[in-house]
Amino acid sequence: MNFLESITSKEIRDRFNEVLDTRPDGRIVSYILAPDKTAEWLHSVGPGYDDTMRSLLPAIPPPNLRSIVAAPEEEIFLWTGANDISYFLGVLEHYASPDLAVPRRILDFGCGCGRLTRYLGLSDRYRATGTDINQDHVDWCAANLPRVTTLRNKAVPPLPLADNSIDFAYSLSVFSHLPERAALAWLADLARVLAPGGLLIITTHGLNALQVIRPSKIHHAMFGMDEAAVDVMSNRLATERLVFVPYSAEVVDAAKAGDEYGNTFISMDKADSLWSDLFETVYSKSGGLRGWQDVFVLRRRHS
Ligand SMILES: C[S@@+](CC[C@H](N)C(=O)[O-])C[C@H]1O[C@@H](n2cnc3c(N)ncnc32)[C@H](O)[C@@H]1O
Repeated sequence: MNFLESITSKEIRDRFNEVLDTRPDGRIVSYILAPDKTAEWLHSVGPGYDDTMRSLLPAIPPPNLRSIVAAPEEEIFLWTGANDISYFLGVLEHYASPDLAVPRRILDFGCGCGRLTRYLGLSDRYRATGTDINQDHVDWCAANLPRVTTLRNKAVPPLPLADNSIDFAYSLSVFSHLPERAALAWLADLARVLAPGGLLIITTHGLNALQVIRPSKIHHAMFGMDEAAVDVMSNRLATERLVFVPYSAEVVDAAKAGDEYGNTFISMDKADSLWSDLFETVYSKSGGLRGWQDVFVLRRRHS
C-alpha cells in the first residue's frame, strides 16, 4: 500500500463509491483510476467534486496563501502536494536506517500553508513539524492542521527545535529563493536539528528549470525573464554556479519571507559544495521534482 492509500480513510472511500453509483460512467472511472490513482484523485480532485469528501479531509488554505507557494488552483495545489510528499517519503524511507523508530520525526522547513504537511498529519507513521518565516502561513496551519506542529522561525537561525530532534527533514522550493549566505546558515542549523544519520531533501532551481522556463510564457511572467534573459542566466550559471536575483520590493513585501528573498539558480556541483562538510549527498537528480526543480537527498555526517 502506498502512502496516499495508507492515509485514505474508509469514510472517504465509501463516499467515493456512493458518488460512483450515481454516475453512468462510474464503473469505467473506478476501473481506470484503480486503487493507487483513486487515492490520488480523492486527495486532489475529490474535495472540489463533492462537499462530503471535502468535509472528510483537512481544510484547504485560501487562494492568497496558495498562490504564494504554488499554483492557486485547488486541484493543482492538492495534487502537487500529494505527489511531492509521496515522492519524498518514498525516497526517505528507502535511505532510512533499518532501526529507525516509528513514528519518524519529520520536519518541513519552509512549509508554507501546509501543501505537504497536510498529508503527514493524516498518518500515524510520522510526527510532523513545519516551520516557516511567514506568520500568515504559520497561523493558518496551526489553526487548520491540528496534528501538525507548525512554528514560526525567524529570518536567521536557529530553528525553534532541539538538537538531534528530527529524523527526516525536507525543504521544497526554499533554497531556490535564498542567497548563498542564508543558505549556508540554514544548512548548518538543519544539520544541528537532525539526528546523526538523519536525512534531508533539498530542492533547487538549476539548468533544468531554466530549460523549462525558456520556451514558456507562463514562466517568463513568473520569473520576469524572456528567452534572451534565460540564455544570459544560463551562461551566468555556467561560470558563477550560484546566481541570486533579488525580488522587487513589492514581491518581497507580499512574500513576507524576509528582506533577502529572490530567485536562486544553483548548478548541481555548486549545490553539493554548499553542504559537503555537513552532509553526504546520497542521491541527486536534475529536474527530479516533477521535471522542474533539482532534488538532493542528503545524509547528515556524524561529527
Ligand atoms: C515557494 S514557497 C514553498 C512552500 C512549501 N515548501 C511548498 O512547497 O508548498 C517558499 C516558502 O519558503 C518560506 N521561506 C522563505 N524563506 C524562509 C526562511 N528563511 N525560513 C523559513 N521559511 C522560509 C516562504 O515563506 C514560503 O512559504
